[in-house]
Amino acid sequence: MDNIQEFKQRRVALMQQMGVGIAIIPTAPEVARNRDSHYPYRFDSYFYYLTGFKEPEALLVLIAGDVPQSILFCRDKDIEKEIWDGFRFGPEAAKTTFGFDAAFSFKQLDQKLPELISNQPQVFFSLGADVAWDAKVTGWLNEVRGLVRTGMNAPAAMVDVRQLLDQQRLVKTPYEIALMRQSAEIAAVAHNRAMQKTKPGKMEYEVEAEYLHEFARKGAQSPAYTSIVAGGGNACTLHYIANNAELKDGDLVLIDAGCELDGYASDITRTFPVNGKFSGAQKDVYELVLAAQLAAIDTAKPGQHWNAPHEAALEMLAQGFVDLGLCQGTKDEVLETESYRQFYMHRTGHWLGLDVHDAGDYKDQQGQWVPLTAGHVLTVEPGCYIRPAENVPEHFWHIGVRIEDDVLITDKGNEVLTKSAIKTISEIESHMEQAS
Ligand code: GLY
Ligand code: MN
Ligand code: MN
Repeated sequence: MDNIQEFKQRRVALMQQMGVGIAIIPTAPEVARNRDSHYPYRFDSYFYYLTGFKEPEALLVLIAGDVPQSILFCRDKDIEKEIWDGFRFGPEAAKTTFGFDAAFSFKQLDQKLPELISNQPQVFFSLGADVAWDAKVTGWLNEVRGLVRTGMNAPAAMVDVRQLLDQQRLVKTPYEIALMRQSAEIAAVAHNRAMQKTKPGKMEYEVEAEYLHEFARKGAQSPAYTSIVAGGGNACTLHYIANNAELKDGDLVLIDAGCELDGYASDITRTFPVNGKFSGAQKDVYELVLAAQLAAIDTAKPGQHWNAPHEAALEMLAQGFVDLGLCQGTKDEVLETESYRQFYMHRTGHWLGLDVHDAGDYKDQQGQWVPLTAGHVLTVEPGCYIRPAENVPEHFWHIGVRIEDDVLITDKGNEVLTKSAIKTISEIESHMEQAS
């Protein structure tokens, strides 16, 4: 592995945060889909962040203190199994390839872990994340407690290791930023392709196939989440994932899709007319959401806090809802009474990284919004979703618009990682006109 130092450095940083004690960090289990078929395997994000190791049946042990140690447990080499299922490192090669101090067979967990836990003052573990691992760790702790008369001490405390790792993962390293830039670029180009391939009469899943094609073609291992292709009123169902309706002439279509590249997610939403030309009402709503998004992105910089983009988007949307006759009263009244929630009911973004809704707190221990600092990556994704209602002019019914980009906070301001994805009305209309 050429980036061995990057992962070593992350382990060192965690052990420094731990001070003393042992961390036990398993990867994710394989999950059956039906009968003997499995879902495509996806490692646990915390485990991968610390190891770069992608195989299932693996666990990392970190021992902090005077002599820090990182130990991997993984599957044995097994030529028989490799003939059927493919390459596996085995402990020996994993140790040198990934830079661990030691590596053992996954089968030796029950033998080694009580010994490693004993005499450690505290255990760092994600209690509650997985009942099977909770039971395992409890079993090892009880075994150590049962040996106290032999002179062994059981740990006095258990700390949730995610508490430490979440803060570490929140600030991306240059290595992570380079990957996220690539992931974002692949997804941006894929959105542009899907936009150009959209025509009245096509099915939502046909358009989905266009960006999936582009993800795979560029080496992204997977979509980053279950994506949305929502024609017309389907866009007003926030988590619409059926993607099986026909795209109609005169409707908009909303696509929320991102890819995963070496673990790192991108997350983009674009909304555009199925026939390539915005109607008057569609234009009004789109221009408003775009203005809200640009205002929000403007506030995403050092010196501002996590909630600043949301507040900026809300200000713009509230005024726009009044101007369009969607909300009654003044902008301040709309904000005060939260009447905007009829059309905008979600928040304006989330942290992005190994998980699409990435690790990291949004408020600090004092209850204050986290200050935005260089290395943070967040999404900015305001929207407007108009369901038929008596208080809503009919020409707006079934219009759903969201515009979402991925934004890196830099020392000077920000970088929109997904800037290649077309988004102004004139760009969209000319891009679709050029479709073959
Ligand atoms: N695609 C998930 C989200 O936008 O939060
Ligand atoms: Mn998002
Ligand atoms: Mn999204």
